[in-house]
Amino acid sequence: MFSTDMARIRIHQHVNPLAPYFRFVPQPIEFQTIFADPKLPLHLDIGSARGRFLLKMAAIKPDWNFLGVEIREPLVEEANKIRDENNLTNLHYEFCNATFALDKSLKNLPADVLQTVTVQFPDPWYKKKHAKRRMVKNNLVETVVRHLKFNGRIFIQTDVDFLAEEMFATFKADGNLRECEINENPFPVKTEREAAVEGKDLPVFRRMFEKIA
Ligand SMILES: C[S@@+](CC[C@H](N)C(=O)[O-])C[C@H]1O[C@@H](n2cnc3c(N)ncnc32)[C@H](O)[C@@H]1O
Repeated sequence: MFSTDMARIRIHQHVNPLAPYFRFVPQPIEFQTIFADPKLPLHLDIGSARGRFLLKMAAIKPDWNFLGVEIREPLVEEANKIRDENNLTNLHYEFCNATFALDKSLKNLPADVLQTVTVQFPDPWYKKKHAKRRMVKNNLVETVVRHLKFNGRIFIQTDVDFLAEEMFATFKADGNLRECEINENPFPVKTEREAAVEGKDLPVFRRMFEKIA
């Protein structure tokens, strides 16, 4: 269905978001130029990796815009090339250290367009000594909630039980959110990591939150 013919580029498996190189202040994303119609409802995927989830979502839902933010720049470049090869004008990937700089990247986001956010299998940082490198922190939640439209939704999933509890607790602690009941992933596309985990019959922990204030 898609042209994803580019040779899979070699990249670092993980990068340390605390390293000085990744503590840069990004330019705000120019929403007026990255999408053909910036007024469409927006879906934000944080930690979009190779971007295949959004590539498929953008093709299925041409009446939405899709933005992926990812800390590994070569993956962002590759994903944007594949987007261009597939002539998708409702899809964009941005190089961003979401833990520290999402707010700067979203500075020019038009009001009331951000309707859904996904955080899917975000962390390779399982060891306690690496906890500071984990993506979901209070400031990331605060940024997402501030930009999210009223009634907008945040979907989170991971296969690591203790990281799931930590992430869910961080979102739950935000008084502007309420948890919604879900029995399964509500999205029609699985991420690469999700497919790999489910292929091994391993459990996936999921939560959905809605902005109520
Ligand atoms: C395990 S992968 C999962 C990718 C994809 N969401 C999936 O489910 O297949 C986690 C992704 O989050 C990215 N990531 C980790 N920390 C990040 C940060 N601070 N800002 C942006 N991306 C980050 C990693 O580089 C990686 O691509």
